[in-house]
Amino acid sequence: MGRLKKILIPSLGLVLAFWFYSARDTFKPEMLRGKRVIVTGASTGIGEQMAYHLARMGSHVLLTARTEARLQNVVRRCLELGAASARFVSGTMEDTAFAQHVVREAQAVLGGLDMLILNHVGASYFGFFDGDVEHVRKLLEINFLSYVAMTTSALPMLKESEGSIVVVSSMAGKIAGPFTAPYSATKFALDGFFSSLRQELIIDKVNVSITLCILGYINTESAVRAVSHVIPQTPAPKEECALEIIRAGALRRRELHYPSPAVGSMLLLRSLAPELLDSLLLSSYRLENVRRT
Ligand SMILES: NC(=O)c1ccc[n+]([C@@H]2O[C@H](COP(=O)([O-])OP(=O)(O)OC[C@H]3O[C@@H](n4cnc5c(N)ncnc54)[C@H](OP(=O)(O)O)[C@@H]3O)[C@@H](O)[C@H]2O)c1
Ligand SMILES: *[C@@H]1O[C@H](CO)[C@@H](O)[C@H](O)[C@H]1NC(C)=O
Repeated sequence: MGRLKKILIPSLGLVLAFWFYSARDTFKPEMLRGKRVIVTGASTGIGEQMAYHLARMGSHVLLTARTEARLQNVVRRCLELGAASARFVSGTMEDTAFAQHVVREAQAVLGGLDMLILNHVGASYFGFFDGDVEHVRKLLEINFLSYVAMTTSALPMLKESEGSIVVVSSMAGKIAGPFTAPYSATKFALDGFFSSLRQELIIDKVNVSITLCILGYINTESAVRAVSHVIPQTPAPKEECALEIIRAGALRRRELHYPSPAVGSMLLLRSLAPELLDSLLLSSYRLENVRRT
């Protein structure tokens, strides 16, 4: 009897914990139906895939990036897939005024905003830090300052809709490996800003969620082109990644780790044995293929 209790009670606890956890976890695509969503960096890669998922779910999508020709095709496809509406605004996020303009466009044409998905990144290089300080400044403007500017402009609309902010970051924004110094700096900055802002919103009882997405290696063209000669691992699929980002935002999660076991175990290892993690990371790289500038 004593032995049975010892086994039964913890098992029951586990079952309850699991039930509670999975009950929280019910995502339905209908959650996005009719929602007004901005996706930045939507001309290609993960952003483009997020636009298609949102379109299938029946959202109103407002897409942005620099390349107008690509955005036109993505918008056309979104309409075919069932978007409630699909539009684009093209321009560069180097310019804070453009970032604010995109948000005003949502106000003007959609009458508000339910979800702001910040996903764009400027081009950088994968290699030893080359000493180009101007590049770091420009990358901070594109990858970080424009995120802050869009959030600031969008907050009044998001407060009204009890909406969500989704910030797409990277493992490089939690664990700094080599060859990504400028990029990694911009992603760490996002964690600092948005994790602080999240707590201020909670203090002020503002019901706007902030989801920080920590992504591993994803099979977008630009990522594969940049790192496949150095990182031998197989990248995770961008379509599934895009869906997980939307799901985490809709469920108002604080962080998404995708692909989950790989990113989760790296973050755990970083807190338990950082030196071991550094050497593991390095031993998996093909260092002879890294360019020096
Ligand atoms: N792929 C991965 O392995 C990976 C890993 C970790 C994190 N992430 C994160 O996931 C997000 C998406 O990555 P991805 O691989 O899908 O990138 P991607 O395919 O290179 O797409 C980047 C997007 O940003 C836009 N963009 C670039 N410069 C811009 C500028 N100056 N102003 C406005 N838009 C600009 C690009 O469009 P235009 O060129 O038309 O402007 C494009 O739509 C990024 O935040 C990235 O850091 C990706
Ligand atoms: C916050 O907003 C979400 C989405 O509208 C809603 O489901 C939730 O109940 C709200 N929470 C509070 C505390 O008002």
